[in-house]
Amino acid sequence: MIALRGSMAAAAREDDPIAALLDCHARIRHFSAMARRLVELPDAPAADRADAATRVHRYFAVGLGLHVDDEDDSLSPRLAPRADANLRRTLDDLTRQHRSMEPIVARLLPGWKALGTPIEARPILESMGRDTLTLESMLLAHLAQEEEAVFPQMPRLLSRETLGEIRAEMRARRGPESD
Ligand SMILES: [Fe+2]
Ligand SMILES: [Fe+2]
Repeated sequence: MIALRGSMAAAAREDDPIAALLDCHARIRHFSAMARRLVELPDAPAADRADAATRVHRYFAVGLGLHVDDEDDSLSPRLAPRADANLRRTLDDLTRQHRSMEPIVARLLPGWKALGTPIEARPILESMGRDTLTLESMLLAHLAQEEEAVFPQMPRLLSRETLGEIRAEMRARRGPESD
């Protein structure tokens, strides 16, 4: 019975788009911190650095963009028509923040890719320091704003059906293998 209740809770959480968006935020915080540690630890063992850089590259090349699409294409278009003026301004601001982070990520991607190979890392890490710290601080402020001002409004403003549509689109965006 307890196990059944546990699996029902897991299924409910699995179907909840807010929980799924928060899981994405946990991954963004994890990989932003990993990117910062790369530049903070230029003397880390080469194999560890290459492994971390490969994982950071994969996340920012693929995962972050999927999450941005979740918000810009699945969430905001459904929330904006039901939002008050204040929340609409916040949604517009958050979409602008997505666009302003894209060039920073684009500048960093080749560095993470190179750091995944046997290469003289220090000059690359030095060239990436400023963008890495800027990106992390922009992301942390952005995530906090979404978690405080947007996600708590979802159950209030969106029906269960609409929340289910958002979750289904998030799944479809990632394909059957990786959710
Ligand atoms: Fe966002
Ligand atoms: Fe987000």
